[in-house]
Amino acid sequence: MARSRQTVQTIDSTTSSIVNFMRVKEWIKGNPTIKKIVLGILFRRRPYQAKVRWYVWCFFIFPRYFRRGISWRSRLDLVPFNQFSLGSYSRIEDSVIVNNGMGDVIIADEVHTGVGCVLIGPITLHKHVGLSQYVRILGMHHGIDPDRPHHHHPSTKAPVILEEDVFVGTGTVIMGKKNGEPLVLGKYCRIGANSVVMDDIPPYSVAVGNPAKVVRVWNATLQKWVKPPSRQAIL
Ligand SMILES: CC(C)(COP(=O)(O)OP(=O)(O)OC[C@H]1O[C@@H](n2cnc3c(N)ncnc32)[C@H](O)[C@@H]1OP(=O)(O)O)[C@@H](O)C(=O)NCCC(=O)NCCS
Repeated sequence: MARSRQTVQTIDSTTSSIVNFMRVKEWIKGNPTIKKIVLGILFRRRPYQAKVRWYVWCFFIFPRYFRRGISWRSRLDLVPFNQFSLGSYSRIEDSVIVNNGMGDVIIADEVHTGVGCVLIGPITLHKHVGLSQYVRILGMHHGIDPDRPHHHHPSTKAPVILEEDVFVGTGTVIMGKKNGEPLVLGKYCRIGANSVVMDDIPPYSVAVGNPAKVVRVWNATLQKWVKPPSRQAIL
């Protein structure tokens, strides 16, 4: 009896700690001055400001994240007030850069990120997603006001979601939408090497080029890939 009361107390105190932590997080995020100070503590000064400071890496990132699945030669620029999660059997290869400063980077189970990929949140990679080498997924945009240097502009979020089993060819760039709506690559779509994806790609399709356009769709009745209807009409 006493033991179960103790367990309930422990759960209560853990829950209240999580609630308090969330409140602090929201307070920091909602207060630009405090947020700037916190970012100054976490990130290096210009010109390396996208990299975290050595003590953040040594005490917070290295012990927490560098385990099986994450290469020692990758670069994790992570802030504590946004999420970074890596599912089981997922792999972050050499020279991959992950940055969650603008938004959460959520990687589900059995996701492979090839050598040299760049992942800037907010990004969600569902299970079995495969990124070949040097794929860049950009979940943010800078402003384009010509009167100011680009890094003095406020950045805007452009979330990117890759649904289950999406495969992205090497060298591809996936840019979130400028209007801030999520860009979604549907389940099982294939993106050709060196494509530039700027819009949603429907599930079960092959898209290639700059900007990426759908060139094949899966026909479940025929059980094969066919040209999309509009393309058939053109050719
Ligand atoms: C996209 C891809 C998967 C398509 O393969 P597929 O389904 O066999 O399709 P096809 O080869 O029949 O190509 C379909 C059309 O897209 C074109 N195409 C294919 N890949 C292309 C690319 N990367 N860029 C531009 N056009 C491409 C083809 O020329 C063809 O055009 P057509 O309809 O006018 O003839 C493949 O071409 C590709 O780019 N794979 C990525 C390879 C890679 O990155 N490997 C790394 C492994 S770790």
